[in-house]
Amino acid sequence: MQSNIRPESMARITTPELANAFIEEQVAAVRAQVGDKKVLLALSGGVDSSVVAALLIKAIGKQLVCVHVNHGLMRKGESEQVIEVFGKQMDANLIYIDATDRFLDKLAGVAEPEKKRKIIGGEFIEVFAEEAEKLEGVEFLAQGTIYPDILESKDGVKAHHNVGGLPNGMTFQLVEPVMLLYKDEVRVVGEALGLPHQMVYRQPFPGPGLGVRCLGAITRDRLHALREADAILREEFDKNGLAGKVWQYFIAVPDFTSVGVRDGKRYEGWPAIIRAVNTTDAMTATIEEIPYALLYHITNRITHEVEGINRVCLDLTPKPIGTIEWE
Ligand code: XMP
Repeated sequence: MQSNIRPESMARITTPELANAFIEEQVAAVRAQVGDKKVLLALSGGVDSSVVAALLIKAIGKQLVCVHVNHGLMRKGESEQVIEVFGKQMDANLIYIDATDRFLDKLAGVAEPEKKRKIIGGEFIEVFAEEAEKLEGVEFLAQGTIYPDILESKDGVKAHHNVGGLPNGMTFQLVEPVMLLYKDEVRVVGEALGLPHQMVYRQPFPGPGLGVRCLGAITRDRLHALREADAILREEFDKNGLAGKVWQYFIAVPDFTSVGVRDGKRYEGWPAIIRAVNTTDAMTATIEEIPYALLYHITNRITHEVEGINRVCLDLTPKPIGTIEWE
């Protein structure tokens, strides 16, 4: 666990100028730390790992090996964006692993939420470790640990995955260039590094991904329906100015069907549940008001465009008593 505490003298990074100064400082520090050795990074496409990747590409170029594990539970277009931004635009040394079948096979028939989480987390470490073993000359592991992760781990609030330790048997030294930054600062640094706005201001997305939103035992057809419905919700929130206003919004799809009618015929389908919440710390959350006209439009699109969905419901439950995620 890290014991560093952010010095009082450190000014908050709020402007591109301050971000550029931070970047220059970290580029020099990383070069001094790693020399000509290789650095490995698990690149999920989330804000923190993306900013670390961009920073390290600037500092050490192809000495950074990014591994993106697609667990099959990403939102629509996310893995593609990682490949486009890092593999193509930034010309990173990127290893892309489509482990969809591995994850979904292990999850088949598993309905219990915590068990699903454990399978996803455990499998992730296994896939990543297997990939790391194939590489030679890697002495460092980069992580997108940020300052709140360190504070929360220190206070015993939660054992953050970035702070809890490395997978068994891995003996890397850590490179954690954004360790003293708060989330808003990481975003300013990310924009200064030229990452797409949409990536830097992405809403939080749980590590187990759509796995905890495809409720109960995951099936491929229901997961597909969830991903498509979620993409429609995100597209409509983007178009209608809600994306920057609502902290987290998504679709959950439960594992039961109801009777409906489509094209004059009985049409059994799953409900798509819209959840859109505002919060500052995710400990409590309030419900965002969405204009009815937009809700009708989203409902119309989802029920007409997504195979397998025949109803759309809106979750109006604040936290507490409902958690933000359904599982
Ligand atoms: P809950 O559902 O506990 O969620 O109100 C609070 C915030 O945490 C996210 N979340 C997770 N993030 N792994 C993660 O990395 C998880 O297993 C997990 N479960 C919930 C959730 O999306 C929300 O932002």
